[in-house]
Amino acid sequence: MSQDDLKKRVAQAAKEYVIQKMPKGQYLGIGTGSTANWFIDLLAPHRDHFAGVISSSLASTERLLKLGFHVVDANQLPDAIAKQSHPMPIYVDGADEINPQGHMIKGGGGALTREKIIASMAQEFVCICDESKLVQQLGHFPLPVEIIPMAQTAVNKALALLGGQAQLRLIKSGKAEGQPYLTDNKGWIVDIHGLSIQDPIALEAAINQIPGVISVGLFAKRKADVLLLGKKETVESLRFS
Ligand code: A5P
Repeated sequence: MSQDDLKKRVAQAAKEYVIQKMPKGQYLGIGTGSTANWFIDLLAPHRDHFAGVISSSLASTERLLKLGFHVVDANQLPDAIAKQSHPMPIYVDGADEINPQGHMIKGGGGALTREKIIASMAQEFVCICDESKLVQQLGHFPLPVEIIPMAQTAVNKALALLGGQAQLRLIKSGKAEGQPYLTDNKGWIVDIHGLSIQDPIALEAAINQIPGVISVGLFAKRKADVLLLGKKETVESLRFS
């Protein structure tokens, strides 16, 4: 079974989880990446179950619209819903790494800031991963940080004091190859290599304090509530307290 088969299998489990747990007519948050894409595709026949979906990237929005979903801007929710502490019951998204406490590294696909915003609006974060993403300690996957472009030198200097080497993310192919990768928010991303993250909550707070940082791809304060983990034999379901 390939990694892609595992992603599809876990996306299928997430589809069943969401349909079963959410009554008709509510709003669902949807993430970004190859696992989230499987989830979107498998959920498409059930799109009318939801009042609308809120998407964490332009790429996911495009895919959702093509499949006929009603995509709602995070600022355009009906008043009665918007004023609730958690306008969405569930947000479903992948991760680049997740530890046994439910802390995650995200942003390999560059959508970390919007993912964080939507995750903060949801009652429950359901993380969908193949088993290769579960690690004892976060940091082997380079930690993405979205920044204001003019702050790059200053941010890199501050990040160096926290350990690890920050590298500006560049476009890998096409006409713009070698240019800085631009996020949906027109930010740049630096990826921090060589970290061994002992205290994800403290590191997230420290990076958030650096002037010029838009957001960091550590999801520790707002971690996953549920992990659906795609394994060869089964999909394991874990709930973090
Ligand atoms: C997007 O910015 C990321 O946070 C993704 O959720 C993460 O990179 C997982 O992506 P895959 O599902 O493609 O592995």
